[in-house]
Amino acid sequence: MAESELDKVSGKTTTGHQWDGIKELNTPLPRWWLITFYATILWAMGYWVVYPAWPLLWSYTRGALNYSTRAAVAVELANLEKIRGDKMIALGAASLADIEKDPALLALARARGKAAFGDNCAPCHGSGGAGAKGYPNLNDDDWLWGGSLDQLVQTIQFGARSGHTKTHEGAMLAFGKDGILKPDEIGTVANYVRSLSGLSTRQGYDVAAGAKIFVENCTSCHGEAGKGNQELGAPNLTDKIWLYGSDEATLIETITIGRAGVMPAWVGRLDPSTIKALAVYVHTLGGGK
Ligand code: HEC
Ligand code: HEC
Repeated sequence: MAESELDKVSGKTTTGHQWDGIKELNTPLPRWWLITFYATILWAMGYWVVYPAWPLLWSYTRGALNYSTRAAVAVELANLEKIRGDKMIALGAASLADIEKDPALLALARARGKAAFGDNCAPCHGSGGAGAKGYPNLNDDDWLWGGSLDQLVQTIQFGARSGHTKTHEGAMLAFGKDGILKPDEIGTVANYVRSLSGLSTRQGYDVAAGAKIFVENCTSCHGEAGKGNQELGAPNLTDKIWLYGSDEATLIETITIGRAGVMPAWVGRLDPSTIKALAVYVHTLGGGK
């Protein structure tokens, strides 16, 4: 290590450190930097006194202001609940028709319904209510159990095949599993179902036999023309909207096992205002009747 010396070019002393002949100048820290540095130290000390700062063995220094973010959040939440509470009471008291007529209530119901939908319904029906195989799309005009506000409240409250005493009941029979139809009959009627919505049918399939099986086994629920029945939750088979799918293999599976999808009951789990808000939200998704 070399001695500190005067650098001829800059006129400053060097620190004595050097690497490969490059010497380090001894430049003091700028005054503004030092002042800022000491100011932050002073600021920190003031902070320790005023705010909670140091951990102790079982607690922490609380600070002169006795401030706590947790307490502050609790106060704000309580205020919010109060504001919301009043509005939710108004929502609970209004009839479904009134809610749809009053823009302020409608906006509240939609916002509340949207949030509750994300928390409770999206796992099955998709975040925008678009559905998935076995979980109906709530955006379209096609309803298993009906798309009026009252019908929606009913379905959301009690579900479908949920086990609740007031649930939508009844299910398609498991024609294959329960031995009501033979596999070749199921294949034939599956093709007939495809023909109802104009889909292609397997070559050589017996149209008359398909129609006969359909009339004997299916029209009691799906109707003569296959247009469904909302009393029974039996879907319209002619509208090209499929809950489970329209390819032959899926249709054969549906007719064999009967499906019997389960929609849970929400009464008791969600309060009545929230269920109302959900019905309004679903109703305004686009497919409401
Ligand atoms: C565990 C999955 C699941 C969850 C969670 C769920 N649903 Fe459903 N939902 C279903 C299934 C399955 C059906 C179809 C039932 C059937 O086949 O008849 C359905 C049907 C419906 C229907 C009737 C659709 C029609 O065409 O008539 C509505 C409305 C509905 N759900 C709304 C909701 C709302 C609102 C929530 C949230 C509070 C929700 N669902 C949560 C599974 C679910
Ligand atoms: C007891 C009433 C009932 C009878 C009888 C019945 N169905 Fe169904 N069907 C239903 C119900 C209810 C559903 C909805 C199942 C669900 O939601 O899980 C359904 C669903 C279907 C589906 C699914 C449609 C889709 O969108 O994916 C097809 C296909 C179908 N039925 C065909 C038939 C055929 C073919 C027969 C006669 C062999 C028949 N059904 C007899 C009540 C019935």
